[in-house]
Amino acid sequence: MNADTDSFHKAVLPPIAATIASLREQVQKARQAGRTIGFVPTMGALHDGHASLIEAAKSARTFCVVSIYVNPTQFAPNEDLAAYPRTMDADRAKCGRAGAELIFAPADSEMYPLGEQTRVKPGILADRMCGLFRPGHFEGVCTVVAKLLNIVQPDIAFFGQKDAQQALIIQKMVDDLRIPVLIQVCPIVREADGLAMSSRNAYLSPEERRQALCLNHALTLGRDRLLAGEKDMQSITSSMRDEICRVVHFHGGTVSIDYVEINDAVTLVPRDAPFGRMLLAGAVRIGKTRLIDNMIVDV
Ligand code: PAJ
Repeated sequence: MNADTDSFHKAVLPPIAATIASLREQVQKARQAGRTIGFVPTMGALHDGHASLIEAAKSARTFCVVSIYVNPTQFAPNEDLAAYPRTMDADRAKCGRAGAELIFAPADSEMYPLGEQTRVKPGILADRMCGLFRPGHFEGVCTVVAKLLNIVQPDIAFFGQKDAQQALIIQKMVDDLRIPVLIQVCPIVREADGLAMSSRNAYLSPEERRQALCLNHALTLGRDRLLAGEKDMQSITSSMRDEICRVVHFHGGTVSIDYVEINDAVTLVPRDAPFGRMLLAGAVRIGKTRLIDNMIVDV
């Protein structure tokens, strides 16, 4: 690498604030300079899906703050908190390339100091889909996102449609708690073969990576049948389940399906007939890895 490219790469590495005090100081400076504040909360292990949120913040001409924090309260005791990938140097470079201007990477003691006890409990949106299989997960998400929004106080916060249920729950929390922030939901970024990008894809073996396409295939099948005018929701979801099993078995694996559903895209209530905007969503476990994906269909 020559001196020019070296200094370019150094120049785009955003500073890291590890404390709330330092984060607030730097955000305040940006505000005083007349910038609006954009915020992209993440758990790190950044991929192009995360980068698309940072790029959206940049397109909105905001001073983009990215938080990188693996939030312990959204993991159940049996989940992958300890194993969750932590790749800070690569994440910092990716943030810089995508246009982030500041990284907030707090320690657990900063987010959950000794003696803290308050939790943000979501309503019925969190009782469906992933909420049934990950008890307490969305309470952990709401708690940490509320804390982060209070710390950063952004004008706009960016979330991915990849976690459709999370995005709906956060929007509801922000409405209900009167948190003054605009929530912008950005489209799902996929690999060339259709697999939704996810930090958890790093867990997949080469065989599991092929099996992981089952979810995208099943959602595509469900979408096509709905768009073709089919009305029998039971038959559509059962053919989606069959497709998941077919793809995984074809690639020599086994799968456990948490759920495959066609729901109202706003309330998440299951549809018994096709109309309006629907969310086709699924969660499967391939080996030890839990994968989710979804598609919106309008009829
Ligand atoms: P994480 O899984 O790191 O995701 C951070 C953000 O990136 C979320 O808004 C998620 O929906 C978005 N995202 C992930 N994969 C994407 C893809 N393929 N395309 C588009 N967007 C994608 O979600 C969390 O972290 C946490 O729950 C968090 C909100 C940070 C709270 O701890």
